[in-house]
Amino acid sequence: MLYGRKNHIMEEGDAEPIFGSAASDHDLPKYKLNQEPILPSIAYRLVKDELLDEGVARQNLATFCQTYMEDEATKLMGETLEKNAIDKSEYPRTAEIENRCVSIIADLWHAPKDEQFMGTSTVGSSEACMLGGMALKFRWRSRAQAAGIDTITKRPNLVISSGYQVCWEKFCVYWDVDMRLVPMDKERMHLDPDKITDYIDEYTIGVVGILGITYTGEYDDMKALDAKIEEYNRTAKVSVPIHVDAASGGLYTPFMEPDLEWDFRLKNVVSINTSGHKYGLVYPGIGWVLWRDEEYLPQELIFKVSYLGGEMPTMAINFSRSASQVIGQYYNFLRYGFDGYKDIHARTHDVAVYLARAVGKTGLFEIYNDGSKLPIVCYKLKEDADVAWTLYDLADRLQMKGWQVPAYPLPADLQETIIQRYVVRADFGMNMAHEFAEDFVKAIAELKEARVLGPVQPGQKVHGFTH
Ligand SMILES: Cc1ncc(COP(=O)(O)O)c(C=O)c1O
Repeated sequence: MLYGRKNHIMEEGDAEPIFGSAASDHDLPKYKLNQEPILPSIAYRLVKDELLDEGVARQNLATFCQTYMEDEATKLMGETLEKNAIDKSEYPRTAEIENRCVSIIADLWHAPKDEQFMGTSTVGSSEACMLGGMALKFRWRSRAQAAGIDTITKRPNLVISSGYQVCWEKFCVYWDVDMRLVPMDKERMHLDPDKITDYIDEYTIGVVGILGITYTGEYDDMKALDAKIEEYNRTAKVSVPIHVDAASGGLYTPFMEPDLEWDFRLKNVVSINTSGHKYGLVYPGIGWVLWRDEEYLPQELIFKVSYLGGEMPTMAINFSRSASQVIGQYYNFLRYGFDGYKDIHARTHDVAVYLARAVGKTGLFEIYNDGSKLPIVCYKLKEDADVAWTLYDLADRLQMKGWQVPAYPLPADLQETIIQRYVVRADFGMNMAHEFAEDFVKAIAELKEARVLGPVQPGQKVHGFTH
């Protein structure tokens, strides 16, 4: 969010009372700096209290981001907060840890032995996608110029399904690239590979396939996409590469569906991103982006930083940031190993499948995702469901029990469909799932008894209860 004066909730001059302390006779301004310092214990209390009504992160089924790490991991991360990830010379062991993480991920994504993979940590998938997109654009430009294509007066384009995450729109706006959207439809809630050649041309910097569409958790069919792109590239003036946005699937699928070919096993997949803070099981923000070979990362995007008397190539939007997230990622890799990740994800999967069944049993919902791929449960109210309430009402009702469960419209072309989605994470155990399922059934029963006020104007969300 961008903040400004309009975001002041109270009038300027309104003060924060510091009750129960010697400082309680001081006023603390909210939107400008207080003149005098206050004691650390009071500052702690005030900030902590400020955050009181934010809800319990672990009951937040809206987020993909990790809400739990082991005590040893948080201790380690707390003890390394001061390390700056960009200072490779000062923190060479940290640089080595990042290097190991990149190699571990390259191995999970089947980087070919005869190619020189490259990769880096990022703040999250958004930065990783930005880097992946920039590499696509710069590489396209030099190849298009070599092929005699006008790269000055015409804009390049990026092709992606309408289920894209907003970071791709940002990339296209920030980097002057047209976003060509392949629409999803009711039958196919992911990119239709058969339509792809209608959208690509010599101005296409790349096609983005999504391993875990944010709205529904569905996967694009990367193998079919690769086959179509391969066919196109055989005669193309400028070949089209694939970037896989595996923000949520990149550190889940390798453990749960190792035979699914979506990664560098596919010839035209040149780069992949993932969020370490999603199924990499690290607190936000850590992401990763890898290229299958140096060839796909244009030199002009690489900046050198000093490293042990020499230089080290880096690619990043940010300069300084804490290395503690990278260290947290390495802790998890070391601690869990392949089997540990697999066990954790398998349990998460079981919980998602259980929840989808619980939702299905009510008979009221059409399930779009039953947790069998990513552990995401996603559904809409059946057309003929005889109820007077909406999914927004159900979300509000569940929030009374502390559960944060979003309801929202599907993207363009499907926006009439309102869905609800749960993202099941490792710390959402079966016990919690049983409790949630009970609250879910109760919420529906209560809504049946409630007098729900319908919308007064189209698009207006007005509802209430009388008990
Ligand atoms: C498919 C996809 N891409 C990119 C992102 C952005 O990820 P991050 O929050 O790590 O920046 C998300 C986040 O949900 C996502 O689902």
